[in-house]
Amino acid sequence: MKQIYSSKMKPLGGYLELQLEKGQDYYPLLLKLNTGRNAFEYILKVKRYTSIYLPYFTCEVLLEPLRKLGIQYQFYTINEKMDPVLDFEVGPTECFLYTNYFGLKQDTILRLSKQFKNLIVDNSQAFFSEPVDGLDTFYSCRKFFGVPDGAYLNTDSLVRLKLERDLSCDRFSHLIKNIDVGIENGYQDYIENNIVLSNNPIKKMSALSHRILSGIDYKECKYRRNSNFMYLHDFLVNYNDYAFDASSVNGPMAYPLLISSTLVRKKLLEKRIYVATYWPNVLDWTTKKMYENYLTTHLLALPIDHRYTHADMKRILNVLKQLL
Ligand SMILES: Cc1ncc(COP(=O)(O)O)c(C=O)c1O
Repeated sequence: MKQIYSSKMKPLGGYLELQLEKGQDYYPLLLKLNTGRNAFEYILKVKRYTSIYLPYFTCEVLLEPLRKLGIQYQFYTINEKMDPVLDFEVGPTECFLYTNYFGLKQDTILRLSKQFKNLIVDNSQAFFSEPVDGLDTFYSCRKFFGVPDGAYLNTDSLVRLKLERDLSCDRFSHLIKNIDVGIENGYQDYIENNIVLSNNPIKKMSALSHRILSGIDYKECKYRRNSNFMYLHDFLVNYNDYAFDASSVNGPMAYPLLISSTLVRKKLLEKRIYVATYWPNVLDWTTKKMYENYLTTHLLALPIDHRYTHADMKRILNVLKQLL
């Protein structure tokens, strides 16, 4: 973008804009920032932490702010419930990050929030899990909705950083190509637009992402996620090596199916059922004997989001039934 006209005067006439529903975003009272990793950086900056405990089982982009700010980090392991193995103590200037895996770990977060003072919650996989009062919690919007970027931050800090507003229009192409030419033909743009999110300064959420997020029917999106998730769970519970409490699902990110076979991912792909790996970097950070390594290679995050109905879930189950 070459020039932004900043006059406060509203333009009248001229060509029309992309037409989006006018509503309200889901977390109007939280700080609106450009990316999840930068929301994480915001917390680290205002709290002035000197070091952090991070799970081995997470995304490598979380290291970006740590490198930027020169913060020491140490990895910790998780157990078969994906709860942290607490064999360390968190000092007064240190903090501890926990990820709300697949949006299914709110109970663990409530428990940890009573146990630790300097807890940071990564709700990038748990958009619909409300932040616990006073607990530093961040969200990444692009994992749940068709936006190029955008993040929310809940913090008890009163310090506010002065920030410019981000611009998202140059990393929007995969979203519109998905509609016009299909998901496969937009995939390269998705990769490239992911790359340009790296190593950017903390900025306010772009007007474009905010406008899109303000037009979403969140009730419907959450309903569809819960309904699709339970549809899969009814059948897959008997095959799933990851045991979790499904009684309080709250708009989860995906259905985590843990199985011993590593061949299923490819078979699903052949049927145009795309299952992301969470997270390839974990294979570099861990040894083959570690549970996190096993999770990365064996856990299938099945899509259950608002785009889909039970008929789509049935298609996934029909493929799985031949393989399990
Ligand atoms: C668990 C987790 N936390 C944080 C992030 C960072 O979010 P963003 O891409 O919005 O910076 C990601 C992925 O990118 C993630 O998978």
